[in-house]
Amino acid sequence: MERTEQNNIIVPMPRIGDKAPDFKAVTTQGEINFPKQYEGSWVILFSHPADFTPVCTSEFMAFATLEKKFNAANCKLVGLSVDGLYSHIAWLRTIKEKIEYKGMKNVEVTFPLIEDITMEVAKKYGMIQPGESNTKAVRAVFFIDPKGIIRAIIYYPLSLGRNFDELYRALIAMQAADKFSIATPADWRPGDDVIVPTAGSCGVAKERMENQKDIYCHDWFFCTKKLSKEDLEK
Ligand code: BEZ
Repeated sequence: MERTEQNNIIVPMPRIGDKAPDFKAVTTQGEINFPKQYEGSWVILFSHPADFTPVCTSEFMAFATLEKKFNAANCKLVGLSVDGLYSHIAWLRTIKEKIEYKGMKNVEVTFPLIEDITMEVAKKYGMIQPGESNTKAVRAVFFIDPKGIIRAIIYYPLSLGRNFDELYRALIAMQAADKFSIATPADWRPGDDVIVPTAGSCGVAKERMENQKDIYCHDWFFCTKKLSKEDLEK
């Protein structure tokens, strides 16, 4: 077991492809058993620095407003900060009762918000990054697939509110990659062409370059095909 000079245990940060570290926690929606109870769904587990702070408030309002859209894509949301349950409850009540922002008002946060005063979960997930803060979680986003595997991780500093279009885009792109065995190019959005796996033999490379029927090859290793929004949603 590796330790720091202060004799603290060093917990390795989870990586893409790892099983999501498991934990049980108290949340604003009751106890959760993570990731076990989410088997079969995608989950976005995200941390925020603190309750009753402006950037976090704007983010929670955005996420709560988009929750149905994420749920419709078989994705559940779970938030976390290093605050206690009563602080979470008071903050979510304030958001609903008092805050109006960019056309959003009366916003009810119905996804679970984990209390993590001990930082046990935050440390397991590498959400405490001492160069940024010793006491506040950074804005981490873990995309966890229906088998409990971490598929993408994004970290933002305390001062930077997340882009929720990008979180949704990333989710849909990973689901498309799984379902259609494709990859998605830079700035891909649903409805755009997707990338087919690179030819694995000289014969396939030749065939693709000579006979471009359903795919378009920029070169033998870079071929795209259509994937309509309708097919994506089927
Ligand atoms: C915020 O959410 O506004 C915030 C939280 C911690 C540090 C800086 C900003």
